[in-house]
Amino acid sequence: MTMETMDWDGAYREDGFFDGPPPWNIGEPQPVIADLIRAGAFRSDVLDAGCGHGEVSLALAEAGHTVIGLELSGTAVAWAQRTAAERGLTNATFVQTDITAFTGYDERFLSVVDCTLFHALPVDRRDAYLKAVHRSAARGADYYILVFAKGAYPAEMASKPNEVDAYELHAAVGRYFDIDFIRPAPILAKVGSLPGLPDLTLPFDRDSLGRLQFPGYLLRAHKAESATA
Ligand SMILES: C[S@@+](CC[C@H](N)C(=O)[O-])C[C@H]1O[C@@H](n2cnc3c(N)ncnc32)[C@H](O)[C@@H]1O
Repeated sequence: MTMETMDWDGAYREDGFFDGPPPWNIGEPQPVIADLIRAGAFRSDVLDAGCGHGEVSLALAEAGHTVIGLELSGTAVAWAQRTAAERGLTNATFVQTDITAFTGYDERFLSVVDCTLFHALPVDRRDAYLKAVHRSAARGADYYILVFAKGAYPAEMASKPNEVDAYELHAAVGRYFDIDFIRPAPILAKVGSLPGLPDLTLPFDRDSLGRLQFPGYLLRAHKAESATA
């Protein structure tokens, strides 16, 4: 299975192909995104693009933000809705939709966060995705993307995320948004459950909880004040 043919709902279902939660679900937001939340980088309303189980959305809501998580997997959306209800968070909403074709939020969001969605999309859907996000962003809105860097996974791995290099990322996002920076940033994953990945050979450090720190990029961009939807 490649990102082009990935069964995303199967990644989250109990009878799906992972033994437990998917490896990218670390039970909390990626530390790089958590740092941004703590630093006050986000402004409501926030779009969490490809929110999965909603760890980022839930942390944003707990920090007082109004957040909407959009996600393809109905199983993941149901999980996120259940967790928000359990935590009494009424400021987080989750909707099942295709992020490359969503409508109905024109110029709504002051912040957009893409926590490891970008490399999960087929390469030929990136432009449609960026166009849809651009339409949903208010003028001056901030956009954060955390994405795997090229080389994060072994070249021989049959099915792996669509990693990027910094130039490719800049060129894709720069078609719609003004780029503020792209810098190296780690992405944590519980690699033990990644099918087909020879994790012992991966040359990356683990954090204190044993999670592998993959190389990634953090991009920040913004929608120009003069932009039209
Ligand atoms: C690597 S996971 C990241 C999930 C979450 N942001 C996190 O940090 O745990 C990528 C997510 O993008 C979702 N996704 C993939 N293609 C999508 C699409 N076309 N529209 C919406 N969500 C999509 C997947 O279902 C999955 O939940």
